[in-house]
Amino acid sequence: MENEAHAIGMMDSGIGGLTVVKAAKALLPNESIVFVGDNARNPYGPKDPEEVIKYSRQIAHYLVEKHQIKVLAIACNTATACALPVLQDELDIPVIGVIDSGAKAAVEASRSKRIGLIATQGTVRSNKYQQGIAALDKNAKVFAQAEPDFVQLVEQNRYQEPAAEAEVADHLAAFRNDQIDTLILGCTHFPLLTSAIKKAVGNDVTLIDAGAVTALELAADLKVNGLLRKTDTKKPSYQLYTTGSVASFETIARNWLGQGDWQFSHLPLAT
Ligand code: SIN
Repeated sequence: MENEAHAIGMMDSGIGGLTVVKAAKALLPNESIVFVGDNARNPYGPKDPEEVIKYSRQIAHYLVEKHQIKVLAIACNTATACALPVLQDELDIPVIGVIDSGAKAAVEASRSKRIGLIATQGTVRSNKYQQGIAALDKNAKVFAQAEPDFVQLVEQNRYQEPAAEAEVADHLAAFRNDQIDTLILGCTHFPLLTSAIKKAVGNDVTLIDAGAVTALELAADLKVNGLLRKTDTKKPSYQLYTTGSVASFETIARNWLGQGDWQFSHLPLAT
């Protein structure tokens, strides 16, 4: 199954995972990527963990069985919180999530050990970031806030509108009192809102893009496992599937990812 010439598989509840695709493509320009965004069933954040596990398993098995991926990156915090151990148990390829690397990067970046976390309800409720941070530094204090509306700003392609900036500022105002010096973007959708989030929390707060640090972990994993693609094999491909509308997925994706040989397709999983 693990063939170095095969693609990296990635999955998310929708658009957000494309932030990890972008970071991984920049770091690993020889690698092919197959991505599935489950836009038809987005959002995952408010769903019961069992439902998120069911959808995650369905997508992961599709990627393994139809695309023979050599590694799976769960580019979704909610799916990582719910389904990472299940998928690590049942797949015979390396499976990585976004939470451990995000927690580690936050602890390393924070001086005051007052760390903010914005994520979906599911991720906040799972306590995975809080536990990961406590395991690394028991003195660190985490201020967690669920921000499900931010997911919709991205999914509905409203994230660049002035109203989005005002909404983000309003939601994040509470962090000013918490005196955090680091804020984890604990949802892969949130990096698309980076400029509004920066304005809201101030330049003194370091933003941790959990997806971007996961791309670094993915690169290290491929190297350690001898799975990096040889440069003399054929050009990498980028297959981006959505379970929802290809037209709206493609509009947001092209805007975020820029130029590239992106191949967009509909995947009728969500039936
Ligand atoms: C969501 O579907 O609610 C957002 C996914 C995430 O947690 O990254």
